[in-house]
Amino acid sequence: MSTTKLKHYLQFTDLTADEYAYLFERTALIKKKFKTYEKHHPLVDRTLAMIFEKASTRTRVSFEAGMYQLGGSVVHLTTGDSQLGRAEPIEDSARVISRMVDLVMIRTFGQDKIERFAQYSRVPVINGLTNEYHPCQILADIFTYIEHRGSIKGKVVAWVGDGNNMANTWLQAAELLGFTVHVSTPSGYEIDQTVAGVSSRCYQVFKDPMQACAGADLVTTDVWTSMGFEAENEARKKAFADWCVDTEMMRAAKPDALFMHCLPAHRGEEVEAEVIDGPQSVVWDEAENRLHVQKALMEYLLLGRLA
Ligand code: CP
Ligand code: NVA
Repeated sequence: MSTTKLKHYLQFTDLTADEYAYLFERTALIKKKFKTYEKHHPLVDRTLAMIFEKASTRTRVSFEAGMYQLGGSVVHLTTGDSQLGRAEPIEDSARVISRMVDLVMIRTFGQDKIERFAQYSRVPVINGLTNEYHPCQILADIFTYIEHRGSIKGKVVAWVGDGNNMANTWLQAAELLGFTVHVSTPSGYEIDQTVAGVSSRCYQVFKDPMQACAGADLVTTDVWTSMGFEAENEARKKAFADWCVDTEMMRAAKPDALFMHCLPAHRGEEVEAEVIDGPQSVVWDEAENRLHVQKALMEYLLLGRLA
């Protein structure tokens, strides 16, 4: 059981700019150790429970591999193979699971569910994606930006596509870390500023995705249909047809602009193959960095700042 003050990571706003600065530095160190096979075992005897109510590749592998690499171990639960799928109250699940492990990561539907779990948990809870937010992904994306281009402060990030969990989290990060998001979504799929919980200073809305990309330092997008919204797939395919990041949009951005996508990607839908597989794309670094940033995050939530 952790002896430091209980800290959850449910939204990007749960940490301060100063804490992010520490985490990015710590991530660089942890990544360096990983690359040189240097042992880093601060979480020996600690256990992470991972609860998945939606599918995952990156989140599952990065949290599971990451926890083992930190010297700890992992328990993996899904709705289908636990009592969570048989209507055990989330509050009861939280009370029980958090008496047996040191840390919990949850991927679920509504943010309210993870908030309720955290309220009844004795240990830190991490958001591994909800309908509203995906903070671990943005943590990795910003670390990736910093690795390639330096500080993101004052930069412009173009968001092309759905006003979804990723878009909301980009806005939260922009407000906290001092950059701007140029958002372009089809009508009917706009961002909801109240969900993001940000002021209108950190973003600008553009009808035309080309305009959103103009002069951007980073162009990013995501699937047209997020998990949980599959019934809308056909309608979305029609509505999003002009929101495919293509070489023309990348040309409108700064010459050294990066392209990111949290993955999984659908080439020919939200992004052209030439872009995601092209020279400006950093999607593989972005995916790998999930591992490193989350190791730094888990270490921080359990042990606080280390010298
Ligand atoms: N980007 C991301 O969260 O990927 P997974 O759905 O594979 O975990
Ligand atoms: N917006 C996507 C992200 C997947 C990692 C979803 O929620 O399905």
